[in-house]
Amino acid sequence: MPAQDNVQIAPADGKLGVLIPGIGAVSTTFIAGVEAIKRGMAAPIGSLTQLGTIRLGKRTDNRTPKINDFVPLSSLNDLVFGGWDIYEDTAYEAAAHAKVLERTLLDQLKEPLSAIRPMKAVFDRDYVRRIDGPNIKQGATKMEKAEMLMDDIEQFRKTHDCSRLVMIWCASTEVFHRPAAVHQTLSDFECGLMKNDPEISPSQMYAYAALKSGVPFANGAPNLTTDTPALLELARERSLPICGKDFKTGQTFMKTLLAPGLKMRMLGLSGWFSTNILGNRDGEVLEDPGSFKTKEETKLSVLNQILQPQLYPELYKDFYHAVRINYYPPRGDAKEGWDNIDIFGWLGYPMQIKIDFLCRDSILAAPLVLDLVLFLDLAQRSGMRGIQEWLSFYFKAPMTAPGLYPEHDIFIQLMKLKNTLRWMRGEDLITHLGLEYYD
Ligand SMILES: NC(=O)c1ccc[n+]([C@@H]2O[C@H](COP(=O)([O-])OP(=O)(O)OC[C@H]3O[C@@H](n4cnc5c(N)ncnc54)[C@H](O)[C@@H]3O)[C@@H](O)[C@H]2O)c1
Repeated sequence: MPAQDNVQIAPADGKLGVLIPGIGAVSTTFIAGVEAIKRGMAAPIGSLTQLGTIRLGKRTDNRTPKINDFVPLSSLNDLVFGGWDIYEDTAYEAAAHAKVLERTLLDQLKEPLSAIRPMKAVFDRDYVRRIDGPNIKQGATKMEKAEMLMDDIEQFRKTHDCSRLVMIWCASTEVFHRPAAVHQTLSDFECGLMKNDPEISPSQMYAYAALKSGVPFANGAPNLTTDTPALLELARERSLPICGKDFKTGQTFMKTLLAPGLKMRMLGLSGWFSTNILGNRDGEVLEDPGSFKTKEETKLSVLNQILQPQLYPELYKDFYHAVRINYYPPRGDAKEGWDNIDIFGWLGYPMQIKIDFLCRDSILAAPLVLDLVLFLDLAQRSGMRGIQEWLSFYFKAPMTAPGLYPEHDIFIQLMKLKNTLRWMRGEDLITHLGLEYYD
């Protein structure tokens, strides 16, 4: 008998507009990648939506469709891109500046990339201190600037004849700040926008503008942004999905692969020291202690949650965990992340693990942007609103319902993602119990 869907999924017809604050290394690598893939010049390596499969039913059923055959995702040919930046560089110029992709590839994509000219940004040097640029909106109040963003969104929707839009934050990391009084309710927040409350950051104005315009929002950086009662209220009120925060790409990806394994084997941890050197603009912004603190908070939270020292004090009480990021221009986007891990085993005997990940930040991030855009649009067409915890798989600091601790273990995150897709399509959830094979 065919499975009965648990949710009504509207078809993915028409153009899907992808609106991106931040036309920098990650977003241009993502856009150029999609354009290259559409032209058959490259393969979508690293993208679960494009290459992943999903097992359905019993192991003996042999049903393992590709994810994008199982759920109706937008086709890459239907994606159109736009964005905002404080610099006037087109996506072609910004990609050339970022030096992630080879010039020969970029030159073949010059036409679509040059057509993407960033709209004027909402920017505040109190939130991102190390950079400044000429392409910035002027307005008397934060509400006025948010309204200008809403006009941009509507203009984009019309010009590109989009049937749906999603917004994904790929701009610089803002300085650390905690939810304040102005973030408590939507009416407090709107009052704060009109009164220019200093606690409202630019990313929150973009998120507000998106949600007010009926556009789902994802946050690729660790900024507070939608992680506040006011914006959660708006997302629920407008029935829109949101997710974040901070793409899980390099070192934290490695951490969430390895730490669950150590815990599974009941191996102890006395220290984990992580250092990074990187030389892109992201690294330059993260030199500022305020922006670094935002990043540090998300990077540090992961191990405690996975290892649960309160449940396993003899293994994980008081382990030392430090994360350093150093701006080192010669490396550009080719980051090097070193981890020194001091573990202990049987009878407390010490051992060490060293990881030296010579990675490419934006090459790792781009497929996550693609998957998030497609899944967030799927969530919207399925009527799923508020925080999309099933997308935790992509984030260093997954958003969760208030009072719920985030799940960082990447294996659990993937199972949750796939079970959510199975649930949407009315398929049995897979528990891996498997007793039926031995009856
Ligand atoms: N690459 C990764 O692996 C990775 C992983 C996790 C998170 N991130 C986050 O993704 C974001 C983008 O990274 P990137 O390497 O592309 O950085 P980038 O510096 O190359 O690009 C960010 C762009 O945002 C622009 N910008 C800053 N404030 C803005 C604003 N208010 N409005 C519009 N534009 C604004 C900057 O001018 C810059 O061009 C950063 O916050 C980074 O921390 C990246």
